[in-house]
Amino acid sequence: MTRRVAIFLSGGGSNMRALVEDMADDHPARPALVLSNNADAGGIAWARARGIATEVVDHRPHGADRAGFEAEIAARIATYGIDIICLAGFMRVLTAGFVTPWQGRMINIHPSLLPKYRGLNTHARAIAAGEREAGCTVHEVTPALDDGPILGQARVVVRPDDTPERLAARVLEQEHILYPMALRRFAAGETAPLYLP
Ligand code: GAR
Repeated sequence: MTRRVAIFLSGGGSNMRALVEDMADDHPARPALVLSNNADAGGIAWARARGIATEVVDHRPHGADRAGFEAEIAARIATYGIDIICLAGFMRVLTAGFVTPWQGRMINIHPSLLPKYRGLNTHARAIAAGEREAGCTVHEVTPALDDGPILGQARVVVRPDDTPERLAARVLEQEHILYPMALRRFAAGETAPLYLP
């Protein structure tokens, strides 16, 4: 049975586009919804133009009330029959109240070789630490931030003259390869980690 995927994003949505384009081929899943906390996210306009259902849930009216924000997301996605949530540059932390019911059905891409560099500014921190290698990780989402079983990783060499921006651009290219591969496998029930060279 084809699994129905919701993709959550906050910005340009290049990972979302890579996932949607991959799902256009023979695939165990299809895009059923793109959701953003930001009405101006480029990814929302792109999805809408392709006839994919979109929802915007602005976090700002909820202030510090994360439970209220998450309750609104849960209410909005309830009618789409979603099987899998892919976080793709969704820059809001989701609490256990939202994550726990979706555990095992929600995945994320993070721009570091987890467990290193959870959180933000991963590339600047990796360069400052003198890392020779950086990369990205697709993992199942658990209530702990950027934790949870690893589904795949791709590695990128850090160059001596790298800036966070240059490194981010090369890692992003790998994200666009890794995330579609990881979603294909996950939607087919495969959870053994995939390590790209
Ligand atoms: C990606 O690099 C993704 O790994 C990162 O945000 C970017 C989104 O780009 N996610 C995080 O940092 C999550 N903590 P995109 O909107 O072009 O896909």
